[in-house]
Amino acid sequence: MEQMETGARLGHYRIIEMLGAGGMGEVYRAEDLKLERQVAIKILPPWAAGDRVAVERLVREAKLASALNHPHIVTMYAIEDSDSAPFLVMEYVEGETLRARLQRSPLDLPELAKIGSEVADALEAAHKVGLIHRDIKSSNILLTKDGHAKVVDFGLAKRLPSIRDDKDATAAVSLTATGAVVGTAGSTTVSPAREVRGSPTTAMPGSAARRWDRAGIAAASTPGRRRSATISRGALKPGPKPSASRS
Ligand SMILES: Nc1ncnc2c1ncn2[C@@H]1O[C@H](COP(=O)(O)OP(=O)(O)O)[C@@H](O)[C@H]1O
Ligand SMILES: [Mg+2]
Repeated sequence: MEQMETGARLGHYRIIEMLGAGGMGEVYRAEDLKLERQVAIKILPPWAAGDRVAVERLVREAKLASALNHPHIVTMYAIEDSDSAPFLVMEYVEGETLRARLQRSPLDLPELAKIGSEVADALEAAHKVGLIHRDIKSSNILLTKDGHAKVVDFGLAKRLPSIRDDKDATAAVSLTATGAVVGTAGSTTVSPAREVRGSPTTAMPGSAARRWDRAGIAAASTPGRRRSATISRGALKPGPKPSASRS
């Protein structure tokens, strides 16, 4: 699939403009001509359109993301077929990525705490249904025009079996192959594989999952600055209890 031009049609969607591109997709603003509303469409980059693994990953992304319904997670509407490859249709978020926002100026603490807690809420909702995002970084956090966060890009997400569904299977499963590291170099502070490998998955999607995605939030808020990331992580924690008296 070549890069889409303005006005091009993909089924009943009309391309308006390119919104962004990551490692695994090109995302366009488009008009749904049937429902007469704007949507975001994610297609595979041209080199990946014929790649079976890339196509399967996109289908999996659609399935995992569509299991979630949360104000701080981009809503997945559909997966559709085109001549060359399937494409995703999702809620269009008018705004910018956290990455673009941070390139302008640092966030002040109240903004950071708000965005961090919204992303944490989103990830908690995902963890509750056994879904680990595994690629939390500033380009996968969208900010709406009024400054709210929406998590996007479940391309690397993984669903863990529930301990209640199958005890034996759960105990046997590890999050990734031994030694494998997922996420984006330089963005994910803690490798999920390292966090989880060797731990019984009974701990998932609890403490290990939360530690990992929380570390991602900290890194996403202040890319490439370990000192700042530590500060931002602190901003997500409840502050110290006020002391009754001062000495
Ligand atoms: N629903 C959306 N609304 C607006 N912009 C989006 C949306 N989804 C993605 N984008 C833009 O497209 C970029 C790439 O999308 P993403 O799903 O992260 O692709 P990749 O899997 O290639 O990383 C994002 O960083 C963002 O700029
Ligand atoms: Mg991305």
